[in-house]
Amino acid sequence: MQFPDPEIHQYLHEMAPKRLSILKEMEALAEKEKFPAVGPLVGGFLYQLAKISQAKMIFELGSGFGYSALWMASALTTGGRIICTEFDPERAKLGMKFLERAKLRSKVIYEVGDAVQSLNRYQGPFDMIFVDLDKEAYPEVIPLAESRLKAGGILVADNVLWSGRILEDQDQSKSTQGIRLFNATMAKHPDFFTTIIPLRDGVSLSLKK
Ligand SMILES: C[S@@+](CC[C@H](N)C(=O)[O-])C[C@H]1O[C@@H](n2cnc3c(N)ncnc32)[C@H](O)[C@@H]1O
Repeated sequence: MQFPDPEIHQYLHEMAPKRLSILKEMEALAEKEKFPAVGPLVGGFLYQLAKISQAKMIFELGSGFGYSALWMASALTTGGRIICTEFDPERAKLGMKFLERAKLRSKVIYEVGDAVQSLNRYQGPFDMIFVDLDKEAYPEVIPLAESRLKAGGILVADNVLWSGRILEDQDQSKSTQGIRLFNATMAKHPDFFTTIIPLRDGVSLSLKK
């Protein structure tokens, strides 16, 4: 299976939102280093979600060098904050530099260490939580995120179609199993309403009831 369809993907890229030159610089860096940043399609979608929900407090699990964080930080309402988490200190340092250059540093707290432990330390309530850490950890984020989101808050997760590998029975890797369990749990979770959007590598959007 080829997912996403390359021609549709190309078309969507042609329709990608206009963006700051610093985001294009980060995209080029991600491309060069083969780093899995969300890219402009999902970045733009995160920006929209943060704007629509008028987010003031956002938590991101797995921030890398701040690409998705920069999109979300630029959508925060006045006085808003995004908590970024990354266990690679060099990547976090680079992220802070990019956010500084984008004049968004004051809106961001970068936590270096395990993202799940970090979320555990924050009480919330958050308007939006974005999940983009190691895929095997996705399921354990669910109960924690539920307790840290406000009613009406949103839980967003990237890579939930995992290049179509979720459908390949022979793939029993921890990451693929983590995503399968995350999707199945969210689909029947009594406290969330979830839609999977087949954008790029699949984005799951869950509204906390
Ligand atoms: C897919 S990349 C994130 C990309 C970022 N969201 C973006 O779009 O720019 C995942 C990042 O999360 C970090 N990571 C993975 N698991 C983590 C964990 N449990 N705690 C903290 N960071 C983690 C990795 O080091 C990597 O930089």
